[in-house]
Amino acid sequence: MHITLIHGPNLNLLGQREPEVYGVMTHDELVKQVQEYASASGITIQVKQSNHEGDLVDYLQYAPSVSVAVILNPAAYTHTSVALLDAVRAISIPVVEVHLSDIESREPFRRVSYIKDAVVARFFGKGIQSYYEAIDFLKELNK
Ligand code: DQA
Repeated sequence: MHITLIHGPNLNLLGQREPEVYGVMTHDELVKQVQEYASASGITIQVKQSNHEGDLVDYLQYAPSVSVAVILNPAAYTHTSVALLDAVRAISIPVVEVHLSDIESREPFRRVSYIKDAVVARFFGKGIQSYYEAIDFLKELNK
């Protein structure tokens, strides 16, 4: 089973960016650990990161041709992007929304997720554990 993991803006700066909110793990370390967790269940994960909204739309549109599901952390575009909502709706494979931080208990604007009604599940507020929960969810869904 192959999953596409899509990361939005500023997640490339993990480790140095607001470590009190997002932790000290770098983007490369996070990706490696998520891939290792998935591989224990025979799941492979391809990772795409961009700071540009249109790139994220392109990655979503491409994902169904190479994977059975998407794990999406759109970062700040979660709270602003109709284009990402439309892209999630446009593709035929399940998309799971993930965030490292607890977006429900931060600034009020982070409680808004444009994609939330279009995704099959949401996991947030548990750091890397949120990604593991997304993988476990998709594993069950694809049984
Ligand atoms: C984030 C939460 C977003 O509100 C923020 O803009 C991010 C990261 C998270 O993973 O906690 O960049 O998606």
